[in-house]
Amino acid sequence: MSNFDINKIRADFPIFQNNKLLVYLDSAATTQKPKQVIDAVSDFYSNYNANVHRGIYELSMKATEAYHSARQKVADFINAPDWRSIVFTGGTTESINLVAYSWARKNLIKGDEILITEMEHHSNIVPWQLVAEEIGANLKYIPINTDGTLYIKNLDELINHKTKLVSVIHQSNVFGTVNPIKNIINQAKQVGAITVIDAAQSVPHDIVDVQDLDCDFLAFSGHKMLGPTGIGVLYGKTELLESMTPFMGGGDMINSVTMTESTWNDIPYKFEAGTPNIAQAIGLGAAIDYINEIGLINIHDFVKHLLNIALEKLRTMDGLTIYGHQVGKSSSVISFNLEGVHPHDLAQFLDQDGIAVRAGHHCAQPIMDKLSVSSTIRASFYLYNTEEEIDKLCASLKKTASFFSNL
Ligand SMILES: Cc1ncc(COP(=O)(O)O)c(C=O)c1O
Repeated sequence: MSNFDINKIRADFPIFQNNKLLVYLDSAATTQKPKQVIDAVSDFYSNYNANVHRGIYELSMKATEAYHSARQKVADFINAPDWRSIVFTGGTTESINLVAYSWARKNLIKGDEILITEMEHHSNIVPWQLVAEEIGANLKYIPINTDGTLYIKNLDELINHKTKLVSVIHQSNVFGTVNPIKNIINQAKQVGAITVIDAAQSVPHDIVDVQDLDCDFLAFSGHKMLGPTGIGVLYGKTELLESMTPFMGGGDMINSVTMTESTWNDIPYKFEAGTPNIAQAIGLGAAIDYINEIGLINIHDFVKHLLNIALEKLRTMDGLTIYGHQVGKSSSVISFNLEGVHPHDLAQFLDQDGIAVRAGHHCAQPIMDKLSVSSTIRASFYLYNTEEEIDKLCASLKKTASFFSNL
């Protein structure tokens, strides 16, 4: 981990200079931003703000160039063979909805099956419920085990000749489980089903190679990988994107418009109606540069190291139930509950010690149902967290547990 200097990294994040006591353990919700990203966005607005693809003047050409360069950086980051595969969206949610509208609604018919898992974030459930209801397709689920893994023993039954689309979360935002998506993609391909990967939690943490996975679509969000909010990515195989109709109509996505009909621009512009999120895309490009500079593998190994330390310490605490992390591969998030303390109360007590964690259902209510809980606490880690912060979390948890046991 030669490039990994935690003090230097923390110094890059103004939020920690401006909130000296902050222990930020909610990066799975959104990450903090290094000054390199903030500066890139500010530089755009201060020095070359203009609309893209439109102006035949220097500023607009500069903005267009920077916007395009961000797209190329994204393509390289996930090893997409062609920048035209990269559609900029508002986030993972919009990316998945784009596939649901532009591919699923056009290609599925009554009786077809859509397969997802019980581990999904709501953004990979609700769009398919809407499609299934509209078309008369059937939404099926790969079940989960209570240890936070997928039950895939009968995958060959679940993926059958009726299955037309399989959409799976890569890394769980609740358990941290890293799912065997390559197996699932391979199985889906055998029946000719289209595959969609929700990579919102995996792309920030590990190498995701779309050519190696050979998935058809893959979605992720810039704000979970040091980039700005309001920018996300849909990767799609070019031949699929080319075959699809637009998601939204408006400027930039057309070739020609008459009073009676329109023709579409080339991919990826066909799916980017209106003025895109230019500053945010440039910010995402800067985030990718930052991650590359440190090394994604280094980040992965460091976060894994923190995760293991946190697990080890939390496991020794009385009354604490940790969900997942028993078998298989997992990363970056730990969900848990403390006996006798409601997660929302616990989060408030932790907040009093400056510790920011998420409490709730994490937009994954089917998981909560499976675990028979209404909510959990979730601590999530990224490259700027420290072992001392884990100690602070444990100390605050112990203090809270003792407060409640003395009531
Ligand atoms: C696994 C997963 N999928 C999808 C999303 C939705 O991402 P966004 O809100 O950026 O669209 C999240 C966000 O928490 C997530 O963790």
